[in-house]
Amino acid sequence: MTMKHSSALQRSAVKSHHSAGAAAAGERLALDQAGIEAAKSDLHTGAVTPHFGPWREEIIGLLNDALATEWVCVLRYKRHHFTAVGLASPAIASEFLVHANDEAQHADRLARRIVQLGGEPDFNPDTLTQRSHASYSPARDLQAMIRANLIAERVAIEAYSQMVALIGDKDPTTRRLIESILEQEQHHAEELADWLTPA
Ligand SMILES: [Fe+2]
Ligand SMILES: [Fe+2]
Repeated sequence: MTMKHSSALQRSAVKSHHSAGAAAAGERLALDQAGIEAAKSDLHTGAVTPHFGPWREEIIGLLNDALATEWVCVLRYKRHHFTAVGLASPAIASEFLVHANDEAQHADRLARRIVQLGGEPDFNPDTLTQRSHASYSPARDLQAMIRANLIAERVAIEAYSQMVALIGDKDPTTRRLIESILEQEQHHAEELADWLTPA
């Protein structure tokens, strides 16, 4: 077989492989032109274009529940920080404050995204604990505080993981935000688990 013949055969094999793949999938990678046209109107909705479809309100709802969770976590960590200052481990007490500040940043990033999506961030303190996935904790000793915080972090990790799966490709920007917060919650949980004395 000549070199020329061989490469012609390879090209034909590649070509037939590609067309078989396209036929099997039965679909083309074509953009929805109607959606692109519709994006030129409704300018008051800012970054929200037709692609969001019916999911925008539900995504805002999920983000508001996460916002409530973050604020309950800020309050719990703040209380634990100031209460634990006099206890045996000042290093852990100061780490509680680091976590409180991280959770406050998470809350701000969620609120910013809610506004970007045309929603209203719900900071109503009357309903914070009802809407939060995680609980406030009145624990008084250090190990009870660590345990309560670890439970709250694990609840947040589970809720954020489920949100990532639910949102999927419906809103990639929100999904990436949640994934980045999720990574920090996992780091928090690892630290707390290291300090936990086995019961
Ligand atoms: Fe957080
Ligand atoms: Fe956290």
